[in-house]
Amino acid sequence: MTCDLLLTNIKGLVQVRNAGFTRAAGKAMAELPVLTDAFLTIHQSKIISFGSMSSLPHELKSLQTIDCTDRFVFPSFVDSHTHLVFAASREEEFVMKIKGATYQDIAAAGGGILNSARKLQSLSEDELLERSLPRAWEIIKSGTGAVEIKSGYGLTVKDEIKMLRVAKRIAQQTPLTVKTTFLGAHAVPSNTTKEAYIQTIIQEMIPAVAEEKLADYIDVFCEQGFFTPDETEKIVEAGKAYSMRPRLHANQLYNSGGVQVGVKTGALSVDHLENIGSEEIEVLKKSAVMPTVLPGAALFLNLPFPPGRAMIEAGLPLAIASDYNPGSAPSGNMSLMVALACIKMKLTPEEAINAATINTANAIELSATQGSITEGKQANIFITKPMPSYAFLPYAFGSQLVDKVILKGKVVSEM
Ligand code: NIG
Ligand code: FE
Repeated sequence: MTCDLLLTNIKGLVQVRNAGFTRAAGKAMAELPVLTDAFLTIHQSKIISFGSMSSLPHELKSLQTIDCTDRFVFPSFVDSHTHLVFAASREEEFVMKIKGATYQDIAAAGGGILNSARKLQSLSEDELLERSLPRAWEIIKSGTGAVEIKSGYGLTVKDEIKMLRVAKRIAQQTPLTVKTTFLGAHAVPSNTTKEAYIQTIIQEMIPAVAEEKLADYIDVFCEQGFFTPDETEKIVEAGKAYSMRPRLHANQLYNSGGVQVGVKTGALSVDHLENIGSEEIEVLKKSAVMPTVLPGAALFLNLPFPPGRAMIEAGLPLAIASDYNPGSAPSGNMSLMVALACIKMKLTPEEAINAATINTANAIELSATQGSITEGKQANIFITKPMPSYAFLPYAFGSQLVDKVILKGKVVSEM
């Protein structure tokens, strides 16, 4: 028996699951199966076997062996909500916010999403790729193996297409697994009316995106001042006609009805949820929608954190993503998101790790191949620096604890 890669003496192999386990909800989120003093074998980009060191087969030969003494091995994070294709950062707005402006004030003054759109429209596809690739590598180095990337800073047919093509090229040029989402309904461009823009989305953008098979999903910023629940439903139904399943920006700034329209239209996930109450929790309980929180955005915009604890107590599953974007969450660091969920939403490390791996994989339909240490799944894992326990990862927030990254069976980053 020969394998490409053998990891030995793993202090804790985290998130070990049987095939067929797709998501954790409610009380089950507190369970995080960890195998101590373990080995793991990888062959031809897949996880082949694992077990305790005492059961390591003597006849096993490996082309490469990594000794993981004192280190933990995690499945790579799955980041199910990002906007990491963008032209430029927006720290001038950050300073405006420090001085008292709100996200809404900045958007109303032509900043925010429209600011990002102006910058993106002036770049060629190659230039946009060149600016986005370093962000893809940044998240790889911080432990992410699969990522959802949205459009929404183009706001014209050609610029939305450009963004999605860049997202597809990131999938070709890096070892990340990428899912793409069309978010033409992110904001209304200043040179048109909302009604006219919605017509452009439905009649031109969605067919053009579908023609090139550029998007797996459709998203709408359902929010006061952006798109109403009725408009959201109309846009989402148009996307569904082209096989793009919905996922929504819901209840970020106000209790704007996003959760209800997400459930009604069969969304895979409703994301943000800073402004929900018991009514929305009850609606979610009757659905298969994955509620997703984005703690980086809540922190950065000084919003109330979503009621993650209450959602789990109500029996719901919960997913955690980064929302990596220039306006409301300029970090794609999933270890930090896990830490924020523990500190600000009172999730335990077990719950938060489930939320950032198997549940986010479920949210972007990757749980058959990613999100856990399971025989036959893609070998997407990271090896930590020496740590006393897996809870040290969220505890030591802000530390870079991801040491080696293995994606599709190959070591792609070493600190
Ligand atoms: O998820 N809420 C809408 N979209 C992004 C922010 C976009 C921006 O400000 O550039 C978000 O927070
Ligand atoms: Fe977002």
